[in-house]
Amino acid sequence: MSAADQLLAQVRAQGAIPRHVAIIMDGNGRWARERMLPRPVGHRNGMKSVREVVEAAIEAGVEVLSLFAFSQENWQRPATEVSALMSLLEEYIQKEANELDQQGVRVIFLGDLDRLPARQRASVDGIMAQTTHNTKLVLNLFISYGARAELVRAARLIAEEVAAGRMSPAQVDEAAVTDRLFTAGCPDPDLLIRTSGEKRISNFLLWQLAYTELHISPVLWPDFGRAELYQAILDFQSRERRFGRVSA
Ligand code: FPP
Repeated sequence: MSAADQLLAQVRAQGAIPRHVAIIMDGNGRWARERMLPRPVGHRNGMKSVREVVEAAIEAGVEVLSLFAFSQENWQRPATEVSALMSLLEEYIQKEANELDQQGVRVIFLGDLDRLPARQRASVDGIMAQTTHNTKLVLNLFISYGARAELVRAARLIAEEVAAGRMSPAQVDEAAVTDRLFTAGCPDPDLLIRTSGEKRISNFLLWQLAYTELHISPVLWPDFGRAELYQAILDFQSRERRFGRVSA
């Protein structure tokens, strides 16, 4: 039995599997720099981790996996890096679409997709349509995403409905906001993992993370795999979640 298999057995023995795991994949650049390689090589190796973690999540019985792949702020990186990331996105979809489909993964892209170049937009729309009926795992890929912009968008949608007389101000409650986020209909994350040791939320899922357990892993994303995911779940299982209430 490999070390990762042993950890999975432990995860299963301990019980509660988080329904929704979200990950801020960080450290690709540092991984490359440590090896004196260009940053895009780090991103390419990060793509392998995505593959491994998706498979590991399915094995563990996670229902939703949310990955922060590209933030709104990432558009401001040097043009060469942005274009390398866009090529990688396209390559990921071409290479993985059929296998993800066979594995029963429903792929959903969330964010300001209108900013994507036409090629990438077509690929993204294609894989979402291809996998829309799958139910084994929902894979949320956040691209061109920022949580504040997501909340502003929800506020604007509500304001439009109020202005049109379809909704009254008194009907604006938490559910009204939740229903207008990109993640509408999806349970909130139970566990948020951030790799590479950084202790920040970085404008990811600000609303949805209200009661989420945080796990900071020192491992750089290209080195993050099955064993690291299971370690994070074991850490999650050791927590007592109270949602602002007292212990039972
Ligand atoms: C953070 O590392 C990572 C990113 C900004 C890109 C994430 C992309 C991938 C994992 C590959 C593509 C995946 C898909 C699903 C298409 P960083 O560059 O901020 O690292 P650093 O902080 O060490 O510089």
